[in-house]
Amino acid sequence: EKGGWDSFMDKEIHEDPAAVQRTLIGRMSDDGTIHLDEVHIDEHELKAVDKIIVVACGTASYAGMVAKYAIEHWVRVPVEVELAHEFRYRDPILTPRTLVVAISQSGETMDTLMALRHAREQGSKVLAICNTQGASIARESDAVLYTHAGPEVAVASTKAFVAQITAAYILGLYLAQLKGTVFRDEIRNTFDQLQAMPRKIQWVLDTQPSTIEQAAVQLADARSFLFLGRHVGYPVAMEGALKLKEIAYTFTEGFAAGELKHGPIALVDEGEPIVFIVPPARGRNVLHAKVLSGIEEVKARGAYIIAVAEVGDKDVERYADVIFWRPECPTLMSPLVDVVPLQLFAMDMAKQKGYDVDKPRNLAKSVTVE
Ligand code: F6R
Repeated sequence: EKGGWDSFMDKEIHEDPAAVQRTLIGRMSDDGTIHLDEVHIDEHELKAVDKIIVVACGTASYAGMVAKYAIEHWVRVPVEVELAHEFRYRDPILTPRTLVVAISQSGETMDTLMALRHAREQGSKVLAICNTQGASIARESDAVLYTHAGPEVAVASTKAFVAQITAAYILGLYLAQLKGTVFRDEIRNTFDQLQAMPRKIQWVLDTQPSTIEQAAVQLADARSFLFLGRHVGYPVAMEGALKLKEIAYTFTEGFAAGELKHGPIALVDEGEPIVFIVPPARGRNVLHAKVLSGIEEVKARGAYIIAVAEVGDKDVERYADVIFWRPECPTLMSPLVDVVPLQLFAMDMAKQKGYDVDKPRNLAKSVTVE
C-alpha cells in the first residue's frame, strides 16, 4: 500500500500537489464566485462575523498562522490563532459574532475538540477544517470544510498541512466575497494563483530532492538547528523545525527572523546550521531585504546557511551554503511550496540517522487525550 515508496511519509509528501488540487475542486464557478455549499452557517451570520479565532494544535496550528496573514489581508477581520489547549482554559472572549475555526487532520484531537465545545457553549459558531470524514470534530461543529488530502498514515503530518492552508484560504476568499472586501476579479485571480500551486510544488519534487538529500548527508550529525522566517515564512519555519524534531530527533528552534537581534543571535556560533525562509525578491519586497540582513548577520558569525529562496535570487546565492529553490509565486502562496523541501529534509535526516520515518518514538497519529 506504500505504492512503491519506501515509507508512507515519502509517499505522502509526493501527494502534496494532489492534496492542494483536490481541496480546490468545485470551489469556483464560471462566474467567478466561490462556493462553500456544505457550510450551513447562515450567510447573514457569516457576514456579521467580527473576529475569527483559529484553534488547533501542532502542525494544524501553523496552517492557522499562515491563514491569519491571508484572511486578515482579504477580509479585514482580526484573526487570532490559539493553541487549543491554551484557549480552553483562559476564559477567551467569545460572542455570537466570533467565528471559531478548528483545524484538525484527524478530527479526533481531544484538545481541539474541547476547545470547540467551549466555543459553542459560549454561543460562537464553529467551522471545522478537517481531513477525516465524520470525525468527532467534524460532527460537533456547526459546519465543516473538508480538506481532501486523502488518508494520512505517517505520524508526521505533511500533505494535510498544505491542504489545511488551501482550505483556510478558500474560506478567506469566501468571507471576502460575502463582505465585499475584495473585488470579484481579484478573488478569481487569487483562486487562479492557488490553482497554479500544485504545478509549482511538483517542480520542487521533481528538481530539488538531490540537493536536499546531499544537505541531509552533510548535516545528519548537527546537534541543533534554527529555523527562521518572517511574515508567512515564520509559521513555515516553525513547521520545518517541528518536522525535524519529530522524526529526526534533532533539537530545533523556530522563530520569527526579526527576533534574532532580540536574543537568539547569542546562540549562533561557528558552523551552526540555520534555515532561512526567504520571501520573493520581486517588487522590491521590503521583507526580502530584512531577511537578507538577518542572513548577513549570522553568516558573519560563521553560521551554516540553508535557504529556501526563489529561483534566481542572486543575493541569497551570495551568502547561502545550500539553497532549496522555489519557483516564482506570490508571497501569500509561498508557504504551499516552501514547506515541501523542509518535509523532505526532515525525512532525509531521519533516514540518515536510521530512524523509522513513519513511526517516530513517543508519538501517536491522533492525540485523543487532553
Ligand atoms: C505534526 C503532527 C502534530 C499534529 C497535531 C494535531 O507532524 O502530526 O503536531 O499536527 O497533533 O493533529 P490533528 O491535525 O489531527 O488535530
